[in-house]
Amino acid sequence: MSSPFHPDNDATINPSSNPSINALIEQRKLSRRGFLKGSFGATAIAAFGGSTVADSLTNLAQAAPSPIGGIGFSPVAANIAPMTDAITVPPGYTARVLIAWGDSLTQAANWDPATPMTEAVQLHTYGAHTDGMHYFPFPASGAGPLGNSRGLLVANHEYVDPGLVHSTTTYGSDAITADHVNTQLAAHGVSVVEVQERNGGFEVRRGSGFNRRITGKTPCEVSGPAAGHPLLRTAADPSGMRVLGTLNNCANGYTPWGTYLACEENFNGYFGARADALAAQPLTAHERRYGMAAGGFGYRWHEADPRFDIRATPNEPNRFGWVVEIDPWNKNSTPVKRTALGRFKHESAGVVVGADNKVAVYMGDDERNEYVYKFVSAQRFDPRNRNKNRDILENGTLYVARFDANGTGTWLPLVWGQNGLTAENGFADQGEVLVKARQAADRLGATMMDRPEWVAVHPTTREVYLTLTNNNRRGTNPASSNKADGTTTAASARPPVDAANPRADNRYGHIIRWRETGGDVAATTFAWDIFAECGDRLSTKANLQGNINGDDYGAPDGLWFDQDGRLWIQTDQAGDAQGDWANIGGNVMMCADPASGETRRFLTSPRHCEVTGVTATPDGRTMFVGIQHPGEDWSGSFTANSTWPDSGVNGPTTASAAGAAKPRSAVVVITKDDGGVIGT
Ligand code: FEO
Ligand code: CA
Ligand code: CA
Repeated sequence: MSSPFHPDNDATINPSSNPSINALIEQRKLSRRGFLKGSFGATAIAAFGGSTVADSLTNLAQAAPSPIGGIGFSPVAANIAPMTDAITVPPGYTARVLIAWGDSLTQAANWDPATPMTEAVQLHTYGAHTDGMHYFPFPASGAGPLGNSRGLLVANHEYVDPGLVHSTTTYGSDAITADHVNTQLAAHGVSVVEVQERNGGFEVRRGSGFNRRITGKTPCEVSGPAAGHPLLRTAADPSGMRVLGTLNNCANGYTPWGTYLACEENFNGYFGARADALAAQPLTAHERRYGMAAGGFGYRWHEADPRFDIRATPNEPNRFGWVVEIDPWNKNSTPVKRTALGRFKHESAGVVVGADNKVAVYMGDDERNEYVYKFVSAQRFDPRNRNKNRDILENGTLYVARFDANGTGTWLPLVWGQNGLTAENGFADQGEVLVKARQAADRLGATMMDRPEWVAVHPTTREVYLTLTNNNRRGTNPASSNKADGTTTAASARPPVDAANPRADNRYGHIIRWRETGGDVAATTFAWDIFAECGDRLSTKANLQGNINGDDYGAPDGLWFDQDGRLWIQTDQAGDAQGDWANIGGNVMMCADPASGETRRFLTSPRHCEVTGVTATPDGRTMFVGIQHPGEDWSGSFTANSTWPDSGVNGPTTASAAGAAKPRSAVVVITKDDGGVIGT
């Protein structure tokens, strides 16, 4: 079970009618073998029909090779019931806690988890529910490879469980105060943490001048085509250029010019409205398309702060759902919301620089039957001049993906004035196309996907991998019975399966991948196949057994390539190893060979958590992994489920002697006992 504050994105689903393609079901999927060879046999090309397809397949980028150094560890056993409340890594490896929610970034004291959190304490401590993160190495110096022993760890804080923040089991009925809202806002956002190797292990440099908290109240600049748009203006910010805070930063990205990308995912859950106000002015189609609802996810912030009341401040939600660029090296820098990358429930942002220095950013919209997007910048990357790169994400073209049954795909441009994205169809200008990216994508006929989560780009071939975590909303109800104008209930939309999303009851998810035509990151066509259908080989249902080459797993979410080309896969399923997950066990981090598909279980996690966030030092010998929401349960009895990490099972923590007062999200450092590269 998860928390109502982390609702598995069930609140809304895509009510558009894209694409009505029952016929695709009958068409064969792309041959995995053919894809790996980088070309298709004549028979396959003939089956796909026509020279257009064949032509587009003749100039593919190179498929990812096996990792340099291979995959050499012995897999760990699944963490099945009764679960171990600990991280387990292979023999010869060690995982130790680096930092947990409430640990101090300054010389001030750590939070005592036995007490309620406060805004003042949270502003100098590590935020809640750690998620995507990236290690930025300090430049190497004459004294040695400083980057491998000193860096900035930048991490997202996706959400909070209010009951844990306020040490209450009655948050749902408590009177909500501004203090509640402000403390929770402070627990969100991003942390910048200087870390350094000392005495053979990494530790936080408390008091470092780089350490910083960005929260749900930190002023952010709005840039790009939607900056200052009427849809972004509020009474508090008539300019539409300056937003307070970033929220629900799930996964992330990082650029070759040294900035961090925090992605705003389920922002809708923080907003609500009084019933009488909604009765007088019902939800608009636009609000419904982005999942606005009277009570949000139950945070109730709107009861104490009109900024989160969608009838008092109806444009405030339009100021969230963006990718936020942060310069971790300048503590005084203002985070920038990059509207050119579109507004949706952003999971991650996979940045890739082409051979010609064009820049593309791949992004998923994590909700059932939503879309995959690509941004291509107008400006090229200049590897010799960091300052020239600072606004590469300011202007460019946003595309949405259509995956065709023949194993090719097309990037459809979300450009005002083209393909019906016009004023008469509700798009006054490019700014409105970006604010309403979902509706624009509906109109273009993009492919509804099984919840797009993280993107990972191979470090040398630029092949792109994407996790599709699960989807229980496919079926035979024609999606066209639902209108994007919100006139029917979205819940009845059950689009048919298609070639890229082939399972009707896709509870274990899959991983899809593609290569741009000609290896050009700016290409408008690509070739795709499915890397793995996740599953449980012991399942009695053939549909759910999957085709993993190695250890079973399900609900892939976090995804990252290390520099040697190992594909690391993190999962987010129930986390309690019950029911559908009895055989697969608790959440894991897997390591896969993209060429052979071989997949091994590298890490198992504490009870009722999610494994999310992974990064490493440049030498690959120190890896950082995030453990989010250990112990989480709808009943609110977190501690009954888990006492990690303050149980000390993965090394001592900085908590008070009370220890185990409540489970806390935390980052662990993983090293190989012989000092080798992680995964070898
Ligand atoms: Fe926050 Fe889609 O995971
Ligand atoms: Ca995620
Ligand atoms: Ca997830």
